Amino acid sequence: MADATFKFPKGFLWGTATAAHQVEGQNENNNWYAWENQAGRIHQGEKAGLACDWWNGRWKEDLANAAKDGQNAHRFSIEWSRIQPSANTWDEKAIEKYRTMIQGMHKLGLEPMVTLHHFTEPLWIYENGGWENPDTINHFTAFVRYAVDALKDLVTFWVTINEPAVYTVGGYLGGGFPPGKNDLGKAFIVLSNLVKGHAAAYSAIHNLQPNAQVGIAKQYRAMAPSRPWFPPDRWITRFSSASFNDAFMGAILDGNFRFSLRKESIPQAIGTQDFLGINYYSQDQIRFKPFAFNAVFQERHFLPDAQLSETGFIANVPEGMYAALKWAHQFNLPIYITENGVEDAQGTIRPAYLLAHLRKVWAATNSNWQVRGYFHWSQVDNFEWERGWSQRFGLWGIDPESQQRQRRPSATLYGAICKENAITADMVRKHAPEMLKELFPG
Ligand code: GAL
Repeated sequence: MADATFKFPKGFLWGTATAAHQVEGQNENNNWYAWENQAGRIHQGEKAGLACDWWNGRWKEDLANAAKDGQNAHRFSIEWSRIQPSANTWDEKAIEKYRTMIQGMHKLGLEPMVTLHHFTEPLWIYENGGWENPDTINHFTAFVRYAVDALKDLVTFWVTINEPAVYTVGGYLGGGFPPGKNDLGKAFIVLSNLVKGHAAAYSAIHNLQPNAQVGIAKQYRAMAPSRPWFPPDRWITRFSSASFNDAFMGAILDGNFRFSLRKESIPQAIGTQDFLGINYYSQDQIRFKPFAFNAVFQERHFLPDAQLSETGFIANVPEGMYAALKWAHQFNLPIYITENGVEDAQGTIRPAYLLAHLRKVWAATNSNWQVRGYFHWSQVDNFEWERGWSQRFGLWGIDPESQQRQRRPSATLYGAICKENAITADMVRKHAPEMLKELFPG
């Protein structure tokens, strides 16, 4: 029997994604460091600590492994608090270190994609009200100008802001991120300021580097009504998806920013995207709850028959990846999957999750949608924010104490896919035989 193959387009980017605070270690001048040092904020009081020790150079080992396994790109973030430790200080040594790291990526054949804001900001910004304060827009733009000017000869792809809606829900709607507020009015202001910060950064980058490719990494959360036959469930699902998924991109489409029941005109945001980054992890089912004021009149659950990740954080719903891509396709921009993955220390779910999600990505490329690359979260286990070290997303495992790395079988599977630029039946047979029928029926 001839084996079928899912071939990806020529020049497809294959990589993994990381973020400064989660992998560098010793980041002691940002909001998350302050947060980790407050009692009760992080799972079991854990800290990023040395993280994956990238600041001391361990990125070399992890990225060499990535390159050996056929990856040709890497998405990572640079830490604002290192580069601008206080309002009037710029640390040239820090930017030099990032230059060395990016040069290292080029030597390894990895195309860098650089995120400029990935959940963290300097303490001096945080203590000044963070993104609640409109001054932060100008401070961020100044930082972006400095960083881009210093790195523009080495970088084409810039992600201005990672997951603005997750940042806002996390910090301002009770989601366990700093500053730990629960205030819909403040959430509106913060997300609106993030849109303005992005728009200003977009122009600043293009002024310095006309050929730059600039986008955001948008977490698309697939949502479906818990009881599709029940109109209130359908309504609350549409409302939640409009706020979480559509608000930011709406402003970029036509300058109208709508979040919860409020709106604001942000005309300078129109058209400020060269590509769209999509982070997709999972899908929620949503049920209307008339008296759940603090939960925005809803209760969420996973599809009852979905396979769950180790700590129950992620349901394996590959159809949601397809929904995310379909949603992204409407903007008529090149699309990169800037994050996708599952927490799985034992390595039992990841191979099937990876294959099923990539099968959906392939389907989108095969419909001629402009999907240009995929970045798996993550190369190596790292510090998972308020969930500490309890969730293991790495193709490689890590013991943060000893800094020992351990290759997981999915590193080999992902490596085979990257090298072949394809999914073959052989790979599936070897790494997730339970998926053969689903991926290659007949
Ligand atoms: C995303 C975030 C990443 C990573 C991932 C897995 O929301 O951008 O930094 O933590 O989730 O939890």
